[in-house]
Amino acid sequence: MTEGLNILVVDDEEAMRDALYEMLHRKGHNVTVARDGYRGLKLLDSKDFDIVILDLKMPGISGMEVLSEIKNKNPETIVIVITGYATVESAVNAMKLGAYDFIPKPFTPPELNAIIKRAEEKRKLAIENIYLHEQLSTYMRMDGIIGESEAMIKIKELIRKIAPTDSTILISGESGTGKELVARAIHRYSKRKNKPFVTFDCGSIVESLFESELFGHVKGSFTGAIATRHGKFELGNRGTIFFDEIANISINVQGKLLRAIQEREISKVGSTQTIKIDVRIISATNKDLVKGIRDGTFREDLFYRLSVIPIHLPPLREQRDDIPILANYFLGRYNRKRKKGVKTISERAMHELTTYDWPGNVRELQNIIERAVVLAKGDIIKPADLFYPSRTDSERPADSTLESVEKEHINKILKACNWNKSKAARLLKIDRKTLRLKIKKYGIKSGNNSPEPG
Ligand SMILES: Nc1ncnc2c1ncn2[C@@H]1O[C@H](COP(=O)(O)OP(=O)(O)OP(=O)(O)O)[C@@H](O)[C@H]1O
Ligand SMILES: [Mg+2]
Repeated sequence: MTEGLNILVVDDEEAMRDALYEMLHRKGHNVTVARDGYRGLKLLDSKDFDIVILDLKMPGISGMEVLSEIKNKNPETIVIVITGYATVESAVNAMKLGAYDFIPKPFTPPELNAIIKRAEEKRKLAIENIYLHEQLSTYMRMDGIIGESEAMIKIKELIRKIAPTDSTILISGESGTGKELVARAIHRYSKRKNKPFVTFDCGSIVESLFESELFGHVKGSFTGAIATRHGKFELGNRGTIFFDEIANISINVQGKLLRAIQEREISKVGSTQTIKIDVRIISATNKDLVKGIRDGTFREDLFYRLSVIPIHLPPLREQRDDIPILANYFLGRYNRKRKKGVKTISERAMHELTTYDWPGNVRELQNIIERAVVLAKGDIIKPADLFYPSRTDSERPADSTLESVEKEHINKILKACNWNKSKAARLLKIDRKTLRLKIKKYGIKSGNNSPEPG
């Protein structure tokens, strides 16, 4: 049996108040009555009610006003309005204002009970929804990894599952897809979270220092080794080591790294003493290591050691559904950071963001939003505020340069003139000498491109 609900009855007619009280009380509800809108609102301020039964026609504050006041203050409150026979129209208006249902006068106890029962079910569902939504959003909220696309949810699930194990993980994905973000999240969700997370950036360390950086060295082991030094393996002991850009280590160092991982011990450069190590290894690459194996630049055995659990982060252009969520997330973040009040991204700007190709992935999106927040004139980000660095310089398609357009055009005209240069020069409105120079400059040859028809 259901528990009694807290119900407030607001009606100026005493007989009606008494009747409602009787019917509801008998069903086990806790009923409070008010004889006008003013008293009703005061009661609503002091206590939470599940359901309010409200007469629309009252002197003083009208039922409509009371209704909109309730919906303002607490939109979840279920309001059922009582209407006289001739006022269906006002019932409709009340529903538009957010009333849940209406009871036309006169009504019988079963009619009332049926409505209350429905209202109660709706209320339960609403509460469940709020609860589910909260659960879902805490589940999705993972150390700032934003994204609700199927792929991102799967990745977050995988992170939760594998983080507590000590498994070795290889994260692959284009630049800016969040590889480091994911590596840090794995560490934070692991048993090692209170131990160090040490990054070893294989892309920025000079080859000759690799070994010493990794394993440390003893004083005097090579020129410049003026003191004994701990390597990353020691620094990260009991924690996690993140090998970023793993494809950049030389074959020689790959062998040493493999041995260290297999044997779980290392020795410093210039020392024969071995040191036990207990580290979890996460690596990241934006290169295709399988291709590296084929090309002979990456050891296959090391690859299998590192990629016990592979995680692939898809490029942003394949996760377009996540673009609005990410853009709004960065909008909020940079508003706070830059103390700005940019409220929203215009529909057209958002359209542009969701159709752009994102060669720089999430990092590029983040940079573009930050810049737009800083530079936006009003409180809306418009297309003019969006600046795509990769579109305007380095990564612009080669075919859009003036030179390539010129080459293409000259080629077309020459073909059309059957390689009669005088004719072509005339059509192009340049002299023959200039045409010859351009043909040479662009390396245009007859039959160079597609074979001529006929
Ligand atoms: N899903 C995401 N949610 C929120 N922020 C993200 C997400 N993915 C990436 N970012 C942000 O984008 C930026 C780039 O991410 P990160 O440095 O992890 O990328 P990366 O894959 O390591 O790139 P690179 O290969 O260039 O080193 C970071 O500031 C990161 O916080
Ligand atoms: Mg990175």
